[in-house]
Amino acid sequence: MRGAGFQSIVVLTGAGISAESGVPTFRGPDGLWEGHRVEDVATPQAFRRDPALVQAFYDARRAALARVAPNPAHDALARLDAEWSGNLLIVTQNVDDLHERAGAARMVHMHGELKSALCLACGERQEAPETLSDGPACTRCAAHGRLRPDIVWFGEMPYHMDRIEAALAACDLFVSIGTSGAVYPAAGFVQGARHYGAHTLEINLDPSEGTHFFDEARHGRAGELVPAWVDELLQR
Ligand code: APR
Repeated sequence: MRGAGFQSIVVLTGAGISAESGVPTFRGPDGLWEGHRVEDVATPQAFRRDPALVQAFYDARRAALARVAPNPAHDALARLDAEWSGNLLIVTQNVDDLHERAGAARMVHMHGELKSALCLACGERQEAPETLSDGPACTRCAAHGRLRPDIVWFGEMPYHMDRIEAALAACDLFVSIGTSGAVYPAAGFVQGARHYGAHTLEINLDPSEGTHFFDEARHGRAGELVPAWVDELLQR
């Protein structure tokens, strides 16, 4: 991998990039996410059925952000953002704020953000207060108890898809970091990028479900492999 020759990079990140910061990944060996089945906390149906459970779950995830910090993989991507003179888009599936806390700016959250809330009454997105369980008022329409986590749940449309598709079509390097490749549309980005002729690289602890779609794979801890890859790309 040499930096020379590449112009436009898309980096996709998943829960694995935040694992070394202490944020749990989704698909643990027990199939549970922090003790819950994903369907019980990450679907619109779950929210309709038991809003108190879902709000409490995301309130706890939001509070946990104060106890974690970016790791060397987030720092390396922030350095790439600062130093790469070509095009770059970091697309994260993560709802934590560790990329931006590390300093990355050219990035989008395709699955929403813990720090954001969405008003079901008026559609306004706003900074989330510490807790949504206690039914705070919308800052725009003042409705009480109508704010939900601004998280893209299963069955909902991911954010920023037009911008992501355009970046994938224009990129010559696509790198997927710390994602199991189990959830679409993100799992299909590698095939999209390849279709347009990009070189594709997977960096993950172990082979993802789509590992055979990549031109190149590096398996190990993101906190070690991502800084090494960024060094290579920036030719330090
Ligand atoms: N370094 C690199 N990779 C790691 C590390 C690490 N230190 N630790 C774990 N991983 C890898 C795991 O091997 C796994 O392949 O990260 C991947 C995490 O996979 P998932 O838990 O499935 O997370 P992700 O792919 O981000 O999930 C996608 O699913 O539940 C939904 O919307 C949610 O955004 C999420 C989406």
